[in-house]
Amino acid sequence: MREEIQKILVDEKELDAIVTRIAGEIDRDYRGRGKRLLLLCILKGSVVFTGDLMKKLTIPVEIDFMKVSSYGAGTTSSGTVNIILDILRKDLDQCDILVIEDIIDSGRTLAYLVDYLKLKGANSVKTVTLLDKPDRRVVDFEPDYIGKIIPDEFVVGYGLDYDERFRELPFVGVLKPEVYEK
Ligand code: IMP
Ligand code: MG
Repeated sequence: MREEIQKILVDEKELDAIVTRIAGEIDRDYRGRGKRLLLLCILKGSVVFTGDLMKKLTIPVEIDFMKVSSYGAGTTSSGTVNIILDILRKDLDQCDILVIEDIIDSGRTLAYLVDYLKLKGANSVKTVTLLDKPDRRVVDFEPDYIGKIIPDEFVVGYGLDYDERFRELPFVGVLKPEVYEK
């Protein structure tokens, strides 16, 4: 394990079980719907989760990407959501969108994205998050599918970063505070 990691919070086996469970829930809820199911991966943190999830779904899906930022370089949210890469396709009225997030913290990113995609005319918009830190919520927001509720600790790995580092770790771990307090 890397020396900057204090402890493993969700190991590879548990991540696999979480993804299998959520894929089963999505399969059950969306099977047989007339619209196109669009997995909307929120870059960059959700890349690993989205890739693993789509492999376990048995219903047909399409994928697309958006990049938003509410975080700067550190570990606290700036409070505003900026769209850095927008969704380009124009047939959102034909799409049931599942927004895929790595983690919900304040709730601002997902609350904003759901409103935005509905305004753009999506047939439906639901949200999936691998991790949820409900203690940190600033806006009232409940995701439709949750992988695991975790305490208020800064985590990295399985796509999540600190200052663009640690995304490649195959588990979710807690970063030693001295890494970001320096
Ligand atoms: P929210 O808008 O405050 O809910 O922020 C969600 C975004 O903040 C996530 O998509 C992550 O990019 C980032 N974030 C929040 N908590 C963590 C964490 O513990 N580790 C890494 N990134 C985090
Ligand atoms: Mg993110």
